[in-house]
Amino acid sequence: MGDITRVGVIGAGLMGSGIAEVTARAGLDVVVVEADAAAAEAGRGRIEKSLGRGVDKGKLSAEERDAALARLTFSTDLEACADRQLVIEAVAENEALKLDVFGRLDKITEPEAILASNTSSLPITRLAMATEHPERVLGLHFFNPVPVQKLVELIPSLLTGDDVAEKASAFASEVLGKTVVKAPDRAGFVVNALLIPYLLSAIRMVEAGHATPEDIDNGMVLGCAHPMGPLRLADLVGLDTTKAVAESMYEEYKEPLYAPPPLLQRMVEAGLYGRKSGRGFYDYTRGE
Ligand code: 3HC
Repeated sequence: MGDITRVGVIGAGLMGSGIAEVTARAGLDVVVVEADAAAAEAGRGRIEKSLGRGVDKGKLSAEERDAALARLTFSTDLEACADRQLVIEAVAENEALKLDVFGRLDKITEPEAILASNTSSLPITRLAMATEHPERVLGLHFFNPVPVQKLVELIPSLLTGDDVAEKASAFASEVLGKTVVKAPDRAGFVVNALLIPYLLSAIRMVEAGHATPEDIDNGMVLGCAHPMGPLRLADLVGLDTTKAVAESMYEEYKEPLYAPPPLLQRMVEAGLYGRKSGRGFYDYTRGE
């Protein structure tokens, strides 16, 4: 396997657009695939906005922004990944959708291409078994906002080849400049195994009338020096994603602490997904 220079990113939502941005900024050619033209356009807009913010803050020049944008191609056809050496799947946290994407990518790409999932909690082994080459499948789990957070969890399945894991690890650390931690193929990996029960506990406190979201968040920001409180963080991650990750973890461990509380269920049913939908525990339509 030669050096990775051609990358595909499937999904241009919060995580996919961030992964595509950092990969293009690292100088690689990136194809981003979305389900339809409107979603692809929204992804492009997110990346342009984030790169523009970098220019405004003096972190990159206008030329570097333009060069990164020129390395990005958007498509609505998975076939656009046929020549990719690494494809990172970052579609919604839905097992059936991810299994479908992996099954199709397996047929479209060269057998030596690496297929990675940015899943927050689904078993990598299960995704790998949707392919005929499970040795080339692994998890590469990024954190939101991807351009800011320095961590990537590397999750080999029981079947991932050592050379594949080494190459993916070198890509994340040497090319993207992230710090890599190796995580087991268990729901929640390392970070979400700790983070999700914390977010769910904060939601249960709101549900029980224990404290307001503002007071809980202020408590953790001002009392414990967290960059943001748990309810604002749940809004940032997305309440739909928080619920999906909690469900995977509950399914795996059957521990009540991972069960999504009714308030979270209701908010997702009501379309209150947090920052991405404009409203969650806070209202973002008024520029909060
Ligand atoms: N793109 C690029 N840069 C960004 C950015 C983005 N989307 N968002 C923020 N930044 C940069 C800003 O430019 C700024 O850079 P500077 O300090 O050099 O000027 C820096 O990040 C801080 O941003 P802001 O000043 O705008 O705002 P804050 O200081 O409030 O920081 C935050 C915002 C970076 C989101 C910070 O609050 C934070 O780190 N919060 C915690 C986020 C977290 O825990 N993420 C992990 C979620 S879990 C996950 O993703 C896994 C999943 O599976 C659930």
